[in-house]
Amino acid sequence: MTSPTSTARPTDHRDLLSGSVLQVGPLLPALQTEIAAEFAARRLPEDDGRAAFLAESGDGIRLIVTSGKVGVDAALMDALPNLAAIVNFGVGYDTTDVEAARSRGIGVSNTPDVLTDCVADTALALLLDVFRRITLADNFLRAGSWTSGNFPLATRFSGKRIGIVGLGRIGSAIATRLEGFGCTISYHNRTRRPESPYAYADSITELAAGCDALVVAAAGGPDSERIITAEVLAALGPQGYLVNIARGSVVDEPALIEALLSGGIAGAGLDVFEDEPNVPEALIGLDNVVLLPHLASGTTETRRAMADLTLANIRRFETDGSLVTPV
Ligand code: 8YV
Repeated sequence: MTSPTSTARPTDHRDLLSGSVLQVGPLLPALQTEIAAEFAARRLPEDDGRAAFLAESGDGIRLIVTSGKVGVDAALMDALPNLAAIVNFGVGYDTTDVEAARSRGIGVSNTPDVLTDCVADTALALLLDVFRRITLADNFLRAGSWTSGNFPLATRFSGKRIGIVGLGRIGSAIATRLEGFGCTISYHNRTRRPESPYAYADSITELAAGCDALVVAAAGGPDSERIITAEVLAALGPQGYLVNIARGSVVDEPALIEALLSGGIAGAGLDVFEDEPNVPEALIGLDNVVLLPHLASGTTETRRAMADLTLANIRRFETDGSLVTPV
């Protein structure tokens, strides 16, 4: 028997949501097409038309679809008085003001788990690349240098001591992979994980001092801003490598550049930067770094899974007003 509540409310809110979905910033092209077709989603103008759009249509917007690239700030929330949900394509949601959303009763969701494997794979690819100088060796061969001599010897990776900053889903998946390479794993996390088999370091500096490479897998946001300091890099030392697949904001980028230029650390593998897509010239000129254009989750399979989870969140919201993966 149907309860009075469920008969009073439509079980499918599709008609209610249609036309009230707003895309903020670029999205995976397939997802853009899908939300336009299924929910008549409109895109927030990024030019002078924005203020007029908000004045004219702001009242009608109930749900935003965005990604970590752009996110939603408090001012945009204020311009959308009926906004009830922000659905973020991506696990990181540091560009959305979650506190402001919470205080306005706006739900926020992200796409955890589905990208964990690919991001962890990328961390391993960067580690192997910086130790074994794979990219540099590829450049060497392509430049025709092999005919004049051998590529210089690199540094062994298997069995090294690796420190992980942030032992969440992605940090743990990195650790599992490192076990296969016979690495000794230690970590630092906001809270110690008693169930973890890995050694815990009380501070990031202590972690850095005891490892050959530091892998940054901590969530971005104000709490983790520039926690990889000059002091941490000094503790990592001239033989140490830094890998960052988290957020550029977590690392003090000028201090990193200084450490790379001065030989303070051996090298770095970076998928993320402070001001993407602008990468400092100083990094581009260095041969002890591997630089990726923020692609850790960038496989066809994973981006599809992220899009599906994004759609699942929108559909759940329109069915019962809740979210599948709220943050
Ligand atoms: C991006 C990421 O979200 O999930 C994250 O937090 O950094 C990436 O997967 C993706 O590139 C879309 O912006």
